[in-house]
Amino acid sequence: MRPLEGKVAVVTGGARGIGRATALRFAKDGAAISVWDLNAEGAQETVRLIEQAGGRAMACVGDAAEANQIARSAAATRKAYGPVNILVNNAGMVGFYKFLSITEEMWDRMMQVNIKGPFLCTKEFLPEMLEAGWGRIINISSSSAQTGAKSMAHYVASKGGVIGLTRALAIELATTGVTVNNIPPGFVDTPMLRESPVDVDAFAQTTPMKRPGRPEDIAGAAAWLASEDGGYVTGQTISVNGGRFLT
Ligand SMILES: NC(=O)c1ccc[n+]([C@@H]2O[C@H](COP(=O)([O-])OP(=O)(O)OC[C@H]3O[C@@H](n4cnc5c(N)ncnc54)[C@H](O)[C@@H]3O)[C@@H](O)[C@H]2O)c1
Repeated sequence: MRPLEGKVAVVTGGARGIGRATALRFAKDGAAISVWDLNAEGAQETVRLIEQAGGRAMACVGDAAEANQIARSAAATRKAYGPVNILVNNAGMVGFYKFLSITEEMWDRMMQVNIKGPFLCTKEFLPEMLEAGWGRIINISSSSAQTGAKSMAHYVASKGGVIGLTRALAIELATTGVTVNNIPPGFVDTPMLRESPVDVDAFAQTTPMKRPGRPEDIAGAAAWLASEDGGYVTGQTISVNGGRFLT
């Protein structure tokens, strides 16, 4: 039997990058996937790739950081596949601004997408995980919250919040069968990174493995956390970063 056979997973931000790779990997491992994204075309393309590989998937277009849209996408997902067992809080935004040029509006949107979104999505699905006595919550944080990073104060603060949320909730849920972990990617070659001012290839040379991460590297760690093999792991920060930061 495949490791995630019979499971239902929601992957937020599944239209491209790390989210798409995670959706594809979880589908290969046997889960039915609900791909959540603002980007309808990308989400549909992820669904197509999953179906082409023989998996089951649906797309839900909406903001994964807005309560009404989350409720709507959650209802559509349950109607198609039943209760959700696995939630990957991956949708995120980034921004490169010196601290004094970060406006209150920029700060608020960053916090809404990167930390309030995971809070709201977790609230949406936790009751059915508790009822089942089994669940996996996997939050995608960032290595920048482990190392600090210049011109990213609002992003790094939001991702530090994701690590804190993971730890607090993991302890609160420790006896319930629901695990909560986070993966802080190092530099992963995705559209987000390619669209940023970061020189991906030059930066890769400063990483001990001398290559950027691949979205599949993050997906593999997430698949292990989601599987039965990851069942005794909770509250952890699983650093998938080519040796960039050692915990
Ligand atoms: N790429 C990296 O090197 C890196 C490093 C550290 C952390 N991360 C984190 O990993 C996650 C995925 O990053 P990526 O590089 O694949 O990014 P990406 O920009 O390539 O993909 C992110 C996806 O999330 C979607 N999204 C953004 N806001 C959304 C919202 N409010 N509702 C629904 N969907 C939304 C986007 O449309 C996009 O499809 C993010 O949380 C990011 O902060 C990435």
